[in-house]
Amino acid sequence: MIGFIGGSGIYEALPLNDTREEDVTTPYGDPSAPVTVGEFADTGTEVAFLPRHGENHEYNPTNAPYRANIYALKQLGVERILSSNAVGSLREDLPPRTLLVPDQAFDRTRSRPYTFFDEGMVVHMGFAEPYCPHMAEHLVESADEATEDGAVDGGTYVCIEGPQFSTRAESEFFRAQGWDVIGMTTIPEAKLAREAEICYATITGVTDWDVWKTDAEVSLGEVLDNAAANETAIKQVVEQAIRTLPEDRDCDCGSALAGTINTPSEAIPEETK
Ligand code: ADE
Repeated sequence: MIGFIGGSGIYEALPLNDTREEDVTTPYGDPSAPVTVGEFADTGTEVAFLPRHGENHEYNPTNAPYRANIYALKQLGVERILSSNAVGSLREDLPPRTLLVPDQAFDRTRSRPYTFFDEGMVVHMGFAEPYCPHMAEHLVESADEATEDGAVDGGTYVCIEGPQFSTRAESEFFRAQGWDVIGMTTIPEAKLAREAEICYATITGVTDWDVWKTDAEVSLGEVLDNAAANETAIKQVVEQAIRTLPEDRDCDCGSALAGTINTPSEAIPEETK
């Protein structure tokens, strides 16, 4: 099964037939909303949709239940997750309404649960490549096919804690590092998906210039218009991606935990095995 986690503004599911609402609960509490599962546009492919911020945008980026969301999708049998995030631009040549598929992330969050393995065992999983490279490439190709302007291939997403936006000094610092877009939600989602051995890639939509750009302030109305335009484009990309996703996974995400558990088997509590 394929999962889609929609960001701000994406509250409606994709074209799914015979939908059912899965009221899954998890050891980490309830996911941000019941998961909508259905057959994607007469393809026979089942898709599970989850709005990250809840059905009525009730969870901010810090208190979104990331662990419950990933755990719920895993329980439903999801092996690959496509995600979307709203971001600000840190680069002159990435104006609002640009789509970008990041290949790197920088974690500037500080108060979120980052792991499923915080009791009874120690797991040091590799995360040098935070996104599944095959899924990311597939998203870029899908954007080329489904939209006029396509999506920028690669870039670094710096993930801040929020909910406040950055100071100008922070924004200039991020730019000086050469980072490309800024948002609040790819971490810990990408980390948890990897721990769950689920492929994960995201398509970001630029809604605003971050505050470094003092000559082009974007009004709230414009941000909302940009978000709406991005949503339309992102849905087209995700639909194309689902329609054309190869049946089998061709990456290492499905065995991400192999050899990473640093606790002897006999010391691991039975319920966590
Ligand atoms: N999400 C959308 N725009 C953003 C920005 N400028 N900073 C952080 N998160 C964002």
